[in-house]
Amino acid sequence: MIDVAPRTDGSAPHPSPVQEHGWWRDAVVYQVYPRSFADGDGDGTGDLPGIAARMESLAELGVDAVWLSPFYPSPQRDGGYDVSDYCDVDPMFGTLADFDRVVEAAHTHGVRVIVDLVPNHCSSDHAMFRAAVAAAPGSRERGHFHFRDGRGDAGEHPPNDWQSHFGGPAWTRVTETDGSPGQWYLHLFDPSQPDFNWEDDDVRAYFDRVLDFWLARGVDGFRVDVAHALVKAPGLPDWGGRPDGASSPGFPGEDAPMFDQPGVHVVFERWRERLESWGPDRILCAEANVAPLERAAKWVRPHEMHQAFNFAYLHAPWDAHRLRGVIDESLAAFGGVGAPSTWVLSNHDVTRHATRFGLVDGAHVDLGHGIRAGTPLDPELGERRARAAAALMTALPGAVYVYQGEELGLPEVLDIPDDARRDPYFLRSGGTVVGRDGCRVPIPWESDAPAYGFNATGRSWLPQPEKWSRYARDVQRADETSTLALYTHALATRKSLALGSGSLVWVRTDDPAVLAFVNGEVLVVANLSDHPVAIGTDEVLLESVPSAVHDGRLAPDAVAWFRASSDAV
Ligand code: NOJ
Repeated sequence: MIDVAPRTDGSAPHPSPVQEHGWWRDAVVYQVYPRSFADGDGDGTGDLPGIAARMESLAELGVDAVWLSPFYPSPQRDGGYDVSDYCDVDPMFGTLADFDRVVEAAHTHGVRVIVDLVPNHCSSDHAMFRAAVAAAPGSRERGHFHFRDGRGDAGEHPPNDWQSHFGGPAWTRVTETDGSPGQWYLHLFDPSQPDFNWEDDDVRAYFDRVLDFWLARGVDGFRVDVAHALVKAPGLPDWGGRPDGASSPGFPGEDAPMFDQPGVHVVFERWRERLESWGPDRILCAEANVAPLERAAKWVRPHEMHQAFNFAYLHAPWDAHRLRGVIDESLAAFGGVGAPSTWVLSNHDVTRHATRFGLVDGAHVDLGHGIRAGTPLDPELGERRARAAAALMTALPGAVYVYQGEELGLPEVLDIPDDARRDPYFLRSGGTVVGRDGCRVPIPWESDAPAYGFNATGRSWLPQPEKWSRYARDVQRADETSTLALYTHALATRKSLALGSGSLVWVRTDDPAVLAFVNGEVLVVANLSDHPVAIGTDEVLLESVPSAVHDGRLAPDAVAWFRASSDAV
C-alpha cells in the first residue's frame, strides 16, 4: 500500500536543479528531424517552411524549445550530419530566409530554437576538405584534418587500428594530385565524413565564425554532435579496443583515444565564453556519449556546457530497480556540479521506445542498430509502457527532451523495404545492421490527408505505414484519452506545478517493482510490476492510461500523479 500522505524511504532528498536563473534548467525541448516533420513544398522531404507552418502545434503541446537536426547543405550521406556548408540551408530544406521565418514563428509562440552543430567532422564535399585533398602532404590545408602516411612499405595500411562507427576502417586513402596512392584521412563515421583536426587554430577560428553566424540569426543554442570526439589522443595511438571502436552500447569506454580527451573541454569553455558574449540565455547541449554519469557531468561544469544528454537514462530498460538507480545517479552526478539532469526516451538514432518497451523478454536490441521485422514484440504492451515512461519522465526535475512523434505514441517502422533504406548503418553493413530509418519515417498529422498531412502531395522520402491513421495528430487532438492528450496534460501540469524545477524525495513502497517519489505538490507512483498495487485514494492529477487508478489500485505498467497531502515529506 502506498499512502498518498507519503513518507520518505530514508534516502537523502535530491535538491532542486534550479538554483539559479536559466530557462534550460527545467525546459522541455522538442527534437525536430526536419526531413520527416512537415513538408511545405510537397517533394516528399520535410523542410523549414513546413516547420514554421506547424510551430503552433508545438506551442500547443507545451514545449519550451525546439532542437532542429541539421538542415545545412549536405550530400545527405548521413542524414545531414555530413555538412558541406555550415552557414547556409540546403535547398531541399529551403533558404536562410525560411530559417529566419522558423525562428520568428518559434519566438512568436514563445518557443526557443536550438540548432544542431556538427563540429567533429564535415562532409567530404566541404570546401576545406576539398582543398586539403588537393593540397600536398604537410600543407596547412591538410592540417585542418587528420591526414597521415599509411603503414607498410608502400603506406598501404591504415595509420592505426581505429574502426569507423558505421563499420570498416576509420581511414580512407586519397589519391594525390600526381595520381599516386597517397595519404590516409581519419573519419570516425562514414568515409564521406572526414574528422576535423581540433588542434588546428584555423579550425577553431572557423567554428567561432559559425557560432557567430547562427547566434546573429537569433538562435537560442546549439546541440553539439559527438562533442566528446573532437580531440584525439596525441599521436593517434592504436587502441586495440573493440574492433568496431565502440563501447557497449554505442560509443567507446573510458580509455578510448578518440573520445573524451582532456583537451576537448577547453574547446567548449571557449564556446561558452563566446555564447555569453551574446547574452545570458544561449545554451550548449552536449551529445557526449560517455560513461559513467560522473564523467558526463564534467561536460556541464559551470564554465562549460549547459546540458548534456543523459544516455544512461535513454538506455535504461523498463525496470524499477534500474530506473531508480539511473535517476539517483543522474541527479547526484549532475547536481554535484550544479547542473540540471536531462531526461530522454527517444531520438533519431535509436529504436522508438514504444517499440523497445514492447520487446518480448529476451529479445535483444542494440538501440542504435534498429530491429528486424519479426522480432518478438507486444505492441500494446509497448504503447502502454511508453505512456507510463512519459508520465514518469515528465515528472522528474530537470530538462526533458521529446523526439518528434513520441507524443503521438509512434512505434518504430519495422517493414521499410531494403531499397528504401538510407541509413549508412544499413548501407555500409550490407544490410546486416537494420539501422535508424525506422524511427525517421515522416510523422502523421491528419488521418485522411495524403501522406497523413505530412504534405499535400502524398510523397514521402521513407514509406509511411498503411495503418498510421490512428496516430494522426488530428485524431488524437479530438480524443482526451490519446497519447497526445497525455503529453499535453503532463507538460501543462509539469509547468503549472513547477516539477522541472522541483526536488525529488523517494517514498517507501512495499514492492520493489513500484517506484514512488514526491516532487513538490505531486506524488508520482510508477507500477512496473505485473499486478495492480493498492494505493490510498486521493486527488489524481494524471494517469498514464485511462482508469490506471481504479478501486484504490494502480494498474500494472502504469504511472499516476496524485496531489501529495499537506503532511507529505
Ligand atoms: C550523432 C548523430 O545523432 C547521428 O545521427 C550521426 O550519425 C552521428 N552523430 C555522426 O554525426
